[in-house]
Amino acid sequence: MKPFDTIIHGGTVVTASDRARCDVGIRDGRVVALGDDLGEAPQMIDATGRFVLPGGIDAHVHIAQPQGEGIEMADDFESATRSAALGGTTMVLPFALQESGRSMRETLKAYHAKADGNCYVDVSFHMIISDPTEHLLGQELPALVEDGYTSFKIFMTYDGLALNDRQILDVMSVARDTGALVMVHAENYDAIRYMTEQLERAGKIAPKFHATSRPMVVEREATHRAISLAELVDVPVMIVHVSNREARDQIRWAQDKGLNVVAETCTQYLVLTEQDLDGIGMEGSKYVCSPPPRDIASQQACWEGLKNGTFAVFSSDHCPFRYQDEKGKLTPRGRSSFRWVPNGLPGIGARLPVLFSEGVMKGRLTLEQFVAVTARNPARIYGLEPRKGTIAVGSDADITLWDPDKTQVLTHAMIRDGADYSPYEGMELTGWPVLTMVRGRVVARDGSLAAPKGTGIYVERRRSHLATLHEGAKGGS
Ligand code: URP
Ligand code: ZN
Ligand code: ZN
Repeated sequence: MKPFDTIIHGGTVVTASDRARCDVGIRDGRVVALGDDLGEAPQMIDATGRFVLPGGIDAHVHIAQPQGEGIEMADDFESATRSAALGGTTMVLPFALQESGRSMRETLKAYHAKADGNCYVDVSFHMIISDPTEHLLGQELPALVEDGYTSFKIFMTYDGLALNDRQILDVMSVARDTGALVMVHAENYDAIRYMTEQLERAGKIAPKFHATSRPMVVEREATHRAISLAELVDVPVMIVHVSNREARDQIRWAQDKGLNVVAETCTQYLVLTEQDLDGIGMEGSKYVCSPPPRDIASQQACWEGLKNGTFAVFSSDHCPFRYQDEKGKLTPRGRSSFRWVPNGLPGIGARLPVLFSEGVMKGRLTLEQFVAVTARNPARIYGLEPRKGTIAVGSDADITLWDPDKTQVLTHAMIRDGADYSPYEGMELTGWPVLTMVRGRVVARDGSLAAPKGTGIYVERRRSHLATLHEGAKGGS
């Protein structure tokens, strides 16, 4: 047997549970040895003074997702995964949105066609269920879960996407019976519509009123309702993109009660506030996303939630629109009301550097906690363990080298996604991912790409470790 293709030597290897000064031996894309002085290999990577971490998994991204009339996302799979690689992420989980009149299987095929051969990092798909027909629930979903599409997102708000409580119960019971994981966007649709109409009537149409139209109570109520519906069905649930203390406390309450509830927060809720939506002219539209960024106390609550495990996953919710673009944030309709400004922020490339700098370097999180929420937990929760999310013998060699001493001011030019701005532009960051490796291949080094697109492949997933705990779930991982 040939020894190693690559050895990473001289660095400090950190996983979600351990830290050690050791070399990493890699063969055929996998980690095959961890130890002192593993010798020589054709490719030697010097990691002296670097942290050697599992590559990030961004478990919540939107890429090339069809939008309504006249609106277009800023990224295709090439540009989004380029930015991911430059930012230290080795795998992304975008959503395949069920389109009306098209089967979910066909929809997934279309996403595969967009992704195949175009990705710098590995990819797997969640589904978005917008129309839970009998056929989808009874036939398609069970077969798709068997085929490795083991998670789906549902929305409690947004025109054309919001499901009512009965529909949510139906989807959840399919998840229970198939062992899939349901992800919930928790905001109260009718309350937002009511608030939006009130604001518009009062002439309050600027982007900043987007935040006013969906206050914390709207998120708190829906979070509690989603948890309660999941409890009724007896199924695990993931509450995504949680923005504040009130929603966080609902989740903590459920977890303390022993319910199978996990949750995610995102970059924007740690470092942005509602104030960012209050810019000159349409500038605030750059920060319009749902739920909206809140206030400093909410940021603090999200940090606490990451530290104490209430939030198991940290994602970007990358959903990019260009600013200087009539198909993006400056859609002409957006001037008539915030309600027409496309919701979402770019963040796939900035996610890890911002968390590393603001979290690890500022002492809010340990390196092990950083690895847990950015790699190990998403891998476990979304059925990618033991292949992804750690550095262990047998795991994929998805590895990021971090230089903890590198300080720089973040610019969009470093991020290189398809948008024309970064919400995190101007942040002074300490620590940067200087090398990103996907299955043993270096895809980014010192801010440049080092491998062609197509290096990233589709990865089929197992069931979530949460779902397989349920007796009713068929099969298992
Ligand atoms: O504003 C956001 N978050 N847009 C992306 C879609 C979603 O709800 O995740
Ligand atoms: Zn959402
Ligand atoms: Zn999202």
